[in-house]
Amino acid sequence: MRAKIVAGNWKMNKRLEEAEALVFGICQSLKDATIDDAYQLIICPPALYLNTVQDVISEEDRSQIFVGAQNCHEKDAGAFTGEIAAPMLTDLGISHVIIGHSERRSYYGETDELLKAKVENALRNDLSVIFCCGEQLSVREENGHFDLVEKQVRTALFHLSPEQLSNVIIAYEPVWAIGTGVVASPEQAEEMHAHIRQLLTTQFDATLAANTTILYGGSCKPANAEAIFSKPNVDGGLIGGASLKADAFVELYKILREVA
Ligand code: PGA
Repeated sequence: MRAKIVAGNWKMNKRLEEAEALVFGICQSLKDATIDDAYQLIICPPALYLNTVQDVISEEDRSQIFVGAQNCHEKDAGAFTGEIAAPMLTDLGISHVIIGHSERRSYYGETDELLKAKVENALRNDLSVIFCCGEQLSVREENGHFDLVEKQVRTALFHLSPEQLSNVIIAYEPVWAIGTGVVASPEQAEEMHAHIRQLLTTQFDATLAANTTILYGGSCKPANAEAIFSKPNVDGGLIGGASLKADAFVELYKILREVA
């Protein structure tokens, strides 16, 4: 069975002490939740705080709270000033990396081809990938969203072996819903998730498709999560704004555990 996950993408937020307080708060709020291997929390802080965040998470909590990076380079090493390589993340004990977030695509020009190389390199370095896809509003208005997401997923993931794909989590994040307060309707999320799962079934097989976690991202918060997380093809969320508050983030995790 696929894992159900709430992942927090802190983006470029929090000063050091705030970061420590946030992860401490998350651990504290989780105290009354029993550990269940089927459910996971992933925290993706700015790269400079990866170690700090790991240090706050106790051994016991590490079976349900994982730490991920927000990006990594497509090469293992070299003259790439300011970049972070996948092996460096592995050395720190980091388990996940987000690849293809729409902010990386739009502000830093990351193309589907580049993301393919990043996915490959991350997997080769034993990182699990949270691969983001999603359409802009103009694409949806022209009814091109299914085709666009298919192209993103096809280019970056379809060349992988089944074993490699089993270490990929997909996050469907419609660009028009990210940080806007406009959330996709549960039906919109479900139909895209079902579409993605169908693509995986056709390219790989039904078992692998059924075992792939597909998260929804875009203005997800406790007030709207229940309806979205209840949909059969939605396996949790990739959370931006609401992951910056311990209570809201853990509340999302609890909602997921109640409905899924
Ligand atoms: P948001 O961000 O929850 O603030 O909309 C989601 C994301 O960018 O992953």
